Amino acid sequence: MITVVGSINMDLVIQTDHFPKQGETTLGNLYTTVPGGKGANQAVAAARLGTAVQMIGAVGQDAFGTELLTGLEAEGVQVQNVKQSEGASGIANILLSQGDNRIIVVPGANHSVTVEEINAFAEKLADSDLVIMQLEMPIPVIQRTLEICHKNGVPAILNPAPASGFTADFLPFCTYLTPNETEAEELFGGNWEKALLDYPNRLVVTLGEKGAQFYDGEKHVIVEGFPTTAVDTTGAGDTFNGALAAALAEGQDFEAAVRFANAAASLSVEKFGAQGGMPDRKAVNERLKGGSL
Ligand code: RIB
Ligand code: NA
Repeated sequence: MITVVGSINMDLVIQTDHFPKQGETTLGNLYTTVPGGKGANQAVAAARLGTAVQMIGAVGQDAFGTELLTGLEAEGVQVQNVKQSEGASGIANILLSQGDNRIIVVPGANHSVTVEEINAFAEKLADSDLVIMQLEMPIPVIQRTLEICHKNGVPAILNPAPASGFTADFLPFCTYLTPNETEAEELFGGNWEKALLDYPNRLVVTLGEKGAQFYDGEKHVIVEGFPTTAVDTTGAGDTFNGALAAALAEGQDFEAAVRFANAAASLSVEKFGAQGGMPDRKAVNERLKGGSL
């Protein structure tokens, strides 16, 4: 069983020909609401691959909250430990234009999760094969979760996204760290390749369509991305992380797990919505073999 401690949002997506400039009003083409949130996305990515997943988090007592919970359940994600707290669910306002996106997240209920609640879930965390977190939760909650995992020898992946709030005191407690290039720069500066040397087979930097890079103890390894035609890259990083969690939890070695995660991420961008294109195991295996769908 893997445990995701993370955010659950409703994504309010507007597709438009161009982003409005300051003070400008433009007409968009399409408005859609689709489930998102980095935590929920990673949970769904792992569940679609056949992994048992439970989530710890919160939605609001609004219509979105109920819809988000039902959606997670339909994906096979266990939500007994997701509370419905007063107020609004987290939302992400996403503008999509010509393959580019701009996102504002309002955390809402996600920020109602407390350290006391995490303490109450300590046994569930300790019993997990692996725990994965992002940075859309209150920072003390992440810190406490990392501490509990560390104390109990449970592997923990921290996906430091968005990069704000991460502090270096987290590092010794993370088994794995999965920044993208921007986040790696925030964490380690422009020379992040040097930081890879300090965390062999633990720190992997995702490079978008180029794949991902880590250090294996002897050499730098770039695991190449799979060629794909991107429709919507929202959630590609989450698919990578959910698939990486699934692969590591089932004992794949680090390089194989990164390759598996790359394949899953390359498939996810081919459909609209953060969770829209997340593949099942069969699709990932076909892509790994070089087949296309
Ligand atoms: O990583 C993509 C996700 O970030 C979106 O689903 C949105 O909800 C934001 O949390
Ligand atoms: Na997608």
